[in-house]
Amino acid sequence: MRSSTRARITLAGVALAALAAVAATAARAASIFDFDVWMRAIDKHSVEVQKNIEARKTEAAVADAQELARLYGLMEAFFVADGHTPDAVDMSRSGKAFADAIPAALAAKDYDAAAKAALDLSHACNDCHDVHKPFQ
Ligand code: HEC
Repeated sequence: MRSSTRARITLAGVALAALAAVAATAARAASIFDFDVWMRAIDKHSVEVQKNIEARKTEAAVADAQELARLYGLMEAFFVADGHTPDAVDMSRSGKAFADAIPAALAAKDYDAAAKAALDLSHACNDCHDVHKPFQ
């Protein structure tokens, strides 16, 4: 009786460990997969935010900028978790700061400052790509 309970507990432990291993693999695969999805969205919104600022479509530009800030935040968390790429963490943060500056500038009707932040964000893509793209 006692030994079969112990056996069941051991079995449950083994099953849990196996599940945890599967979950860890899935989480890693999912985040790399997600990364390309984020990148394509960053690509799209970084172009659209510039067009929308140029066309004085403030609401759309703010939405683009907020989405960019969200995506750069996800990217920052990804590189923080990765643990080997402090420069990519910094570049994610400075990109997020550019994105965050856009709604603030638009609220003040400072279209030049908004356009400059959007351009600075776009000019920084290759700083990261040169070093980290593709993933090693
Ligand atoms: C902090 C780092 C970083 C920044 C900043 C960054 N990227 Fe990337 N990007 C990467 C990495 C790393 C990859 C390669 C991912 C891989 O190998 O799967 C990538 C891949 C891409 C891809 C290819 C995605 C695919 O489907 O394979 C595009 C498009 C892209 N980036 C656009 C941009 C644009 C546009 C910007 C700037 C507005 C930008 N990225 C800023 C790190 C960055």
